[in-house]
Amino acid sequence: MTNETKIIDPNVVWHQHQINKNQRGEQKKQRPCLLWFTGLSGSGKSTVAGALEAALFAQGHHTYLLDGDNVRHGLCTDLGFSDADRVENIRRVGEVGKLMVDAGLIVLSAFISPFQSERQAVRDLLSGGDFIEVFVDTPLATCEQRDPKGLYVKARAGEIKNFTGISSDYQAPVNPEIIINTDQQTIEQSVATIIDYLTQQGHIQ
Ligand code: ADX
Repeated sequence: MTNETKIIDPNVVWHQHQINKNQRGEQKKQRPCLLWFTGLSGSGKSTVAGALEAALFAQGHHTYLLDGDNVRHGLCTDLGFSDADRVENIRRVGEVGKLMVDAGLIVLSAFISPFQSERQAVRDLLSGGDFIEVFVDTPLATCEQRDPKGLYVKARAGEIKNFTGISSDYQAPVNPEIIINTDQQTIEQSVATIIDYLTQQGHIQ
């Protein structure tokens, strides 16, 4: 289902429950948000997000990491890599991320999420300031050189269709809150940059 076909049955009415996002966040001593990592395969999204989650967890924060490869083993097991399937992948993850933010968590998501319009749609789902776009701006040449899963070699050989950066588009973020370049920064530096941002914005203390 795409956004265009999203129709809510008029007999389905939103129920406002007693406990809200702010209360859940206050109980956890944090201001919930969704840190949306976007970048090419092999750019370092999962690595930086994982290290950031470990650092936040060690500080006593309540987190969850949604990872593209893992989510495709369950919630999105029925989806491939056509444009339409990627749109649906990001739509589902955006909705799940929103629920988790509502649950009071600091949510980290690591998906290629190659299309500007889908990332914007997730941003629009969340309240102002709750969506933090983290562009993992690692050049294609570096990702291809790393090729941690051997997928670029296969994509160049034509064994994988619609591979991002090779045979499928990647639209870089227009105005991300944070830019990380894993070519020039260590993982620790990237994590520190994001922790500083979260502290400045009052998500953590
Ligand atoms: S997204 O485009 O829909 O956001 P997602 O982040 O869920 O992608 O999944 C990307 C992961 O799937 C990559 O890290 C890679 O391991 C794997 N993968 C398999 N086929 C492809 C493909 N055609 N393009 C990109 N990644 C692929």
